[in-house]
Amino acid sequence: MTAIAVLGSTNMDLVAYVAHAPKRGETVTGREFRTIPGGKGANQAVAAARAGGEVSMVGAVGSDDFGALLRHTLVSSGVDIDLLRTADGPSGTAHIVVDDEGANSIVVIPGANGTVTALAPGDEALIATADMLLLQLELPLSAVLDGAEAARRHGVRTILTPSPAQPLPPELLAVTDLLVPNEHEAATLTGVADPHTAAEELLRLVPEVVITLGSAGSLYATRGATPLTVPAPEVTAVDTTGAGDTFVGALAVALGEGKPMPQALGWAAAAAALCVQRPGASTSMPYRSEIDNAS
Ligand code: ATP
Ligand code: RIB
Repeated sequence: MTAIAVLGSTNMDLVAYVAHAPKRGETVTGREFRTIPGGKGANQAVAAARAGGEVSMVGAVGSDDFGALLRHTLVSSGVDIDLLRTADGPSGTAHIVVDDEGANSIVVIPGANGTVTALAPGDEALIATADMLLLQLELPLSAVLDGAEAARRHGVRTILTPSPAQPLPPELLAVTDLLVPNEHEAATLTGVADPHTAAEELLRLVPEVVITLGSAGSLYATRGATPLTVPAPEVTAVDTTGAGDTFVGALAVALGEGKPMPQALGWAAAAAALCVQRPGASTSMPYRSEIDNAS
């Protein structure tokens, strides 16, 4: 089994389903409201565990009711939460609008996630025993950097999802093995809209890049080789929330099990395609048998 450590956020997603997202100053009547466990870190942890990884989660929930629910979601998906802290105060929340095309817009309030500014005792020892460490940018950058540097000290592969998009310090890029931006994040990081050109730019900073391209699949680039495009299965998306996280969680498991990159990307795409056909983040993440059947 692939041992995966995740250092990242937990959020309760407060989701409004509407025909179209309101413009500035506009009020719209939605169809439905749901409270769904999410957060990029927890989503990647759940996705990887359901895909067959042995997963541990480092981060923090709040001391509110959401915190207890977020813990429960992780545990019930088989994620080890021994090192998940509880911070006094509210859990992270994500305020999400999903439109009739399945596209979303999100405001994240960090809550407890904002208290994770550095590794705590025990975190580095856990990272040291993992095959890989999954990181995103919903925790303070200082903690993300701490985690990535700890992983590098112990020869653990780091996979960074640079989301929400923001400029990345060179120290973090220096300890990132695989960067997985979506095309907008890749454009923000490089100033270049074309994903192929953006991938070339990113390879100056990290050795391997996967740019996810929504329904168009993904683009893999590594130094000294021709880039590879892997398609996504054609499906009808009802809610893409968590698609990128599902993709990364499944990709990590596949790579840890020794699948070559093209096959691993195809397997991750099958997992993400299952995710987009169901509402919600953690609620939509597929189990291994479903991914195997779909790929
Ligand atoms: P999100 O923020 O919605 O979780 P993202 O913006 O991080 O996702 P995307 O590039 O939109 O990332 O999607 C990640 C992966 O999910 C894609 O590479 C693809 O495999 C899959 N995916 C996303 N949308 C679709 C879709 N409409 N149909 C099939 N697969 C999809
Ligand atoms: O990537 C999807 C996640 O982003 C949601 O679950 C939400 O919590 C936001 O953090």
